[in-house]
Amino acid sequence: MSIKLSFAKVVLSYVFEGSGLKKKAYIIGMGSYLPERVLTNQDLEKMVETSDEWIVSRTGMRERRLAREDEFTSDMGLAAAKKALKSAGKMASEIDVIIVTTLTPDYLFPSTAALIQCALGAQQAAAFDVQAACTGFLYGLSIAKGYIESGMYKNVLVIASEKLSSIVNYRDRGTCVLFGDGAAACVVSGEAKGYLIKEICLGADGELAEFLMLPAGGCRRPASHETVEQGLHYISMSGKEVFKHAVRRMENAAKECLEKASMKEEEIDWLVPHQANERIIDALAKRFGIAEEKVFKTVAKYGNTSASSLPIALDELICEREIKPGENMMLLAFGAGFAWGASILTKSEGGL
Ligand code: ACO
Repeated sequence: MSIKLSFAKVVLSYVFEGSGLKKKAYIIGMGSYLPERVLTNQDLEKMVETSDEWIVSRTGMRERRLAREDEFTSDMGLAAAKKALKSAGKMASEIDVIIVTTLTPDYLFPSTAALIQCALGAQQAAAFDVQAACTGFLYGLSIAKGYIESGMYKNVLVIASEKLSSIVNYRDRGTCVLFGDGAAACVVSGEAKGYLIKEICLGADGELAEFLMLPAGGCRRPASHETVEQGLHYISMSGKEVFKHAVRRMENAAKECLEKASMKEEEIDWLVPHQANERIIDALAKRFGIAEEKVFKTVAKYGNTSASSLPIALDELICEREIKPGENMMLLAFGAGFAWGASILTKSEGGL
């Protein structure tokens, strides 16, 4: 009997997948939130020894947004989530899981996702945080994709939110010019509209962890007078090393993703990379051989907002440009860990 049952299961799954009925995951709604306060290069010139010329030529950044003192990662994530729900035509009560991806949570615990779940009134939703630094959104999206494809959940809310200004040392010119605050969110569902999440490839290399980290505040170096005096509660980064790996890792992730999706580079219509540095984005675009107007950049306006960078850019691209059904987007991210990822989205008929 059990052999017959297993055989039936195999046949059914073969018919199911072969007939194209296998569940697929779609982004059916998106939204982003940027705080109002603008920090320009000219403002930074008054704070550290730097210049607009240096910042623009080395990074492409002109300004970034900063959250108010009383505005936190959960607040920004909540604002983005509400917009994403509206754009998806869903109510908070329809969300099964909330995944927040951030490296600046309101607290080490409880999760920022739980705080947003409560503020949103999504009592029935499970909630947890994912930490993969600037690649967080793709890691979160991959979990949502898995939930939908497996049939475990119907609607997943993925939120990326960062208050990087809370861990930036505004006396360190090497890092303070780079980062900004902001949030973005999307609803992932099995409803065939919006953007099909065709493929996601992820990677990590913890050997290189020391190049980009927050040295204190974890269990290895709990916060103390000494750690604060030494500024170990601020972002520590070896920019050159990060730069070198960023281009190579994202390029390889893109290739792997194309191969998995049985696609060619020419089939990518839009490139949406992590917004850490315009030179990194341009190097990627060159290696990809994609036209400049097809590479979406927000780096000049918002700087690097870590996990939020990629979804903020994606949300703006969807709002500002006319994406036609059948067009493909390549999303790329790289950050602390090191961790990196690539994803291919395809525009469906209807929805977003
Ligand atoms: N203004 C003026 N001079 C500066 C500044 C500044 N803001 N910052 C650094 N400098 C100086 C340095 O002190 C150095 O001077 P020196 O030669 O006298 O020592 C000189 O400029 C060159 O510094 P580099 O660090 O070599 O400059 P580089 O061209 O590498 O640019 C940058 C630095 C912009 C940080 C670049 O390396 C970069 O973008 N790296 C990647 C960052 C990234 O991708 N992060 C992503 C992940 S973020 C996350 O996961 C949270």
